[in-house]
Amino acid sequence: MNKIVHIVGARPQFIKMSSLFSVLKDSYDQVIIHTGQHYDFDMSDIFFDQLNIPEPDYNLEIGSGKHGEQTAKIIIRLEEKLIKEKPSIVIVYGDTNSTLGAAIACSKLNIPIAHVEAGVRSFNRKMPEEINRIITDKVSTLHFAPTKTAVDNLAKEGIKGLVFNTGDIMYDILKKNLTKIEHRKSLLKEYNLKEGEYVLVTIHREANTDRENLEKIVSALSLIEEPVIFPLHPRTKKRLVQYNLLHKLIGKRNIQIINPVGYIEMLILEKFSKLIVTDSGGIQKEAYIIGIPCITLREETEWIETVNDGWNIIVGNDAKKILEGVKEFHPRGRRKNVFGDGNSALNMKKIITSYLNGSMKDKLDIND
Ligand code: UD1
Ligand code: UDP
Repeated sequence: MNKIVHIVGARPQFIKMSSLFSVLKDSYDQVIIHTGQHYDFDMSDIFFDQLNIPEPDYNLEIGSGKHGEQTAKIIIRLEEKLIKEKPSIVIVYGDTNSTLGAAIACSKLNIPIAHVEAGVRSFNRKMPEEINRIITDKVSTLHFAPTKTAVDNLAKEGIKGLVFNTGDIMYDILKKNLTKIEHRKSLLKEYNLKEGEYVLVTIHREANTDRENLEKIVSALSLIEEPVIFPLHPRTKKRLVQYNLLHKLIGKRNIQIINPVGYIEMLILEKFSKLIVTDSGGIQKEAYIIGIPCITLREETEWIETVNDGWNIIVGNDAKKILEGVKEFHPRGRRKNVFGDGNSALNMKKIITSYLNGSMKDKLDIND
């Protein structure tokens, strides 16, 4: 049996892997390597528990650190595991330092890489994730692009072989779980929230957590009149404490700061919210698919379809624009099926199988 190694390390990667791991289960010997980039219970274990992912076979325990340090530790610690496991192919996800470290380690050992979320671009090279994506795509063998835009981005960089528009893997898992949460409004009671009357906030990007930008965001959030619920990423929590800003939010009666929540709780909070304010990539997509207006605290987005269809506005970290958005943004237009049909993991399985069987020609029609 061919062996497939999945390499993950950060919250959204556990979510993405859950879908692909489960469809490959009966056909392949699978190994999970967790880099240890995220390690708190509510940033890591909770997703394995909730999404029925088996315990990782290895945890490289790289922990937090500077970009170079994290990436280098992954390469060093991964190399020996890959030599031992001899996978037929490695699957990497998204754009984190774990993705980049894994891609470099595999490419040096001539192990084929399948990149889930290939071709996603912000065109902002100051963003660490953009560099991670570009390099990972350059050294990957199979490119699983989530959208037509991502396929086009790869083509512009000269990557045209073995590129497949599989659909977005986050849609698979979202679709599966949305029906399950219809009746879980009771969670709102725990937070004293009412359906359609609160704003959900998440912030974690490097560009939004320096002192100046975080101050601007906090000043805007503290002026929102609606109830606000804010599951706090540990990076943001540390910075809010360091810059003495946490009290400005905690002091407001309408703002609830909570620890990061599990995937199911997050979907419930998203689904029944009035509006989402975020800098997360994944949450912008989820908001679009569910049909919740999204205000994105970034200067650009990879998920441009959500903006083009009028459901997402890009406001950066300008306090005035954030507040205007919260008051005035009420999209109503149609949303399209840009993220596929919720079967992207099955599409990926078909492609991986064909590749490993040696039956893949230059290009495979996944609809065959
Ligand atoms: C990383 C990814 C980002 C992704 C995000 C998902 C990179 C460059 N960035 O950002 O693309 O959107 O994950 O959430 O890979 N920390 C803890 N406990 C943890 C994890 C982190 O306290 O379990 C704190 C540490 O202080 C750490 C900081 O958060 O220094 C940032 O963590 P890191 O993994 O470097 O980046 P993220 O902001 O999580
Ligand atoms: N998420 C979660 N709990 C939280 C915050 C986010 O389960 O407290 C989920 C969210 O629903 C989405 C994914 O994590 O599926 C997005 O991860 P994140 O925002 O950390 O990273 P990004 O998508 O920006 O890389």
